[in-house]
Amino acid sequence: MNVQFVDLAAQYQAIREDVHREFEQLMSRGSFVLGPAVQQFEEAFAAYCGTKHCVGVASGADALQLSLIAAGVGPGDEVITAANTFIATVNAVHHAGAIPVLVDVTAADFNMDPALLEQAITERTKAIVPVHLYGQPAEMDPIMEIAARHGLLVIEDACQAHGATYRGRRGGGLGHAGCFSFYPAKNLGSFGEGGAVTTNDAALADELRMLRNVGQSEKYIHPLAGFNSRLQSMQAAVLKLKLRYLDEWNALRQHFAERYRDLLADAPGVVLPKVKPHVEHVWHLFVIQHFERDALLSALQEQGIGAGIHYPIPIAQQEAFRGVRTVPAVTPVTDAAAGRILSLPMHPHLTEEQVAHVVEAVHAFAQSNIS
Ligand SMILES: Cc1ncc(COP(=O)(O)O)c(C=O)c1O
Repeated sequence: MNVQFVDLAAQYQAIREDVHREFEQLMSRGSFVLGPAVQQFEEAFAAYCGTKHCVGVASGADALQLSLIAAGVGPGDEVITAANTFIATVNAVHHAGAIPVLVDVTAADFNMDPALLEQAITERTKAIVPVHLYGQPAEMDPIMEIAARHGLLVIEDACQAHGATYRGRRGGGLGHAGCFSFYPAKNLGSFGEGGAVTTNDAALADELRMLRNVGQSEKYIHPLAGFNSRLQSMQAAVLKLKLRYLDEWNALRQHFAERYRDLLADAPGVVLPKVKPHVEHVWHLFVIQHFERDALLSALQEQGIGAGIHYPIPIAQQEAFRGVRTVPAVTPVTDAAAGRILSLPMHPHLTEEQVAHVVEAVHAFAQSNIS
């Protein structure tokens, strides 16, 4: 039996008819850039996240970069983010002209450790970018409190956390702005690339609308030097449709996560992911840990099971960011995690049989590798 890491073809089948109808309408209207499809999706997604505004952009990376620029972050500024994240978070800080500073994460949730945050703040710090990694919100209350005390902006990287909540409030509506990716494999994914920024700040949203559209306020009037980073109308049409299913799909992810957690609870040497009591985790990734991770990965792959590592090399060890300041100077939790973490197949279209197959393979490996 093969178990794919994600199954986008199955998801397409679930919405096939509706997608074709939307595309037919869009193509007949000949409206491919911005227009009603983008606006309708933006309104729906803002309402979903509980924010006043949403601005669609070309990718999650652009959502981060453009929101930093729109918030006034630039050369000479420092931006604090998590040491254990996808590299796009840190690239965005760099491309906004600022200096990234990477804070180690907690072993409990692999998110930014708020206890380390104040040590990372200097007189040059302008913003904090907490990442809601794997679908579980970062510990936002202390992060927001520290940010307020130091007059810093908080821009959430919610690229892996569509629909996740922290104390009952959705990610993307917790900080000054929230950045989303609609890369196909995300909990809410397009048929290509896409992203969005959610915010309650009308001025920030206006600035973002200009920045994404060649710096234009109205046709051929350019108050800003902008980018071409528009969310494509066809992607917006797909996203508007899929948004209707997001809660149902997240509930299925939660169901399969519970199955994994129950069935792997006594697997020797397997460390299961922990969920904070005051959050709703949307399980973009289901990440376990094992000391023989590479051998476990090979064993799973041999049995047709798609597994992955998110992420195998910490950013501070990547050539692109050699010499980046980290807090502490070595990041023990991030560094240790990189050698142990393994993401099991996780998507809403899994079957109970597939989960049982994965569980059986992990148990078999764990039993034969008792240290
Ligand atoms: C945590 C995180 N930040 C940023 C991004 C960048 O998003 P995109 O691939 O849409 O540019 C991703 C997506 O891969 C991500 O997982």
